[in-house]
Amino acid sequence: MKPASATHLIIGASSGIGLACARHLAREGSAVVAAARDKARLAAAFPNLPAEARVAVDITVAADRVRLAGVVPMLEGLVVSAGGNAPAPAAALTEERLTELTDVHLHAPLLLLAALLKAKKLRKGASVVWIGSVAALSGEPGNTAYTAAKAGLMATVRPLARELAPRGIRVNAVVPGLVDTPMTERLFAALPPGARDAQAIRHPLGMPTPDNVAAAVAFLLSSRTARITGTCLPVDGGFLAG
Ligand SMILES: NC(=O)c1ccc[n+]([C@@H]2O[C@H](COP(=O)([O-])OP(=O)(O)OC[C@H]3O[C@@H](n4cnc5c(N)ncnc54)[C@H](OP(=O)(O)O)[C@@H]3O)[C@@H](O)[C@H]2O)c1
Repeated sequence: MKPASATHLIIGASSGIGLACARHLAREGSAVVAAARDKARLAAAFPNLPAEARVAVDITVAADRVRLAGVVPMLEGLVVSAGGNAPAPAAALTEERLTELTDVHLHAPLLLLAALLKAKKLRKGASVVWIGSVAALSGEPGNTAYTAAKAGLMATVRPLARELAPRGIRVNAVVPGLVDTPMTERLFAALPPGARDAQAIRHPLGMPTPDNVAAAVAFLLSSRTARITGTCLPVDGGFLAG
């Protein structure tokens, strides 16, 4: 077997978009470190990965981030695809809900990046890819907390790109439209019938698949995009063009 060309840490690798990213990168010959909270789900998703390449962590927990940064090898790539969403109208927003969403979608990715930088685990030439959302740019009613968190995360690519360029580290985001995943299955189960289809028709080319998103992530991780940093790349079937 040919040696892995690069090592990538994928957060949220046990499901949906993160799972598709990890599988895509492994198929391309990269070594993958797969991370998420549920150890059994990680093991089921990646039965052939060595145990040390499946790391059970909650990235919203400081001790977990430090442990993860300690155990991972030197990395060429970091992909953060963790989190979930359960929209609520503005009047139903609570401090707890806002904190939960900003913790996982904004604070934790930034603090994980800080832990990896402190542990010197990102090589010169490394690429960081956040998973943003079209919700941050389109204004979906009832989705204020998630929107604020994703918009915050997407806003970090520019300052981070400039700050980390002298170390040769790139920072970008992929911005998916609606993707059928376990997260969206849970989301639409709680909404009136027809809600998914009403969203689906807003994607003139059709909704992106997890594999469509993974291909864009792999593109931004690759050395072919060595001069691309500070960008947010939509993978949205034309959602934002409408
Ligand atoms: N699906 C869409 O339509 C869509 C569109 C735009 C953006 N996104 C974004 O894409 C990302 C992935 O979404 P998805 O649809 O693929 O969801 P998903 O299928 O529910 O997968 C989420 C992944 O994140 C992990 N995770 C959740 N909280 C975590 C935490 N605190 N620490 C570590 N891992 C955690 C989950 O595993 P555990 O539960 O075991 O931790 C799981 O592996 C999210 O950031 C989401 O906001 C999704």
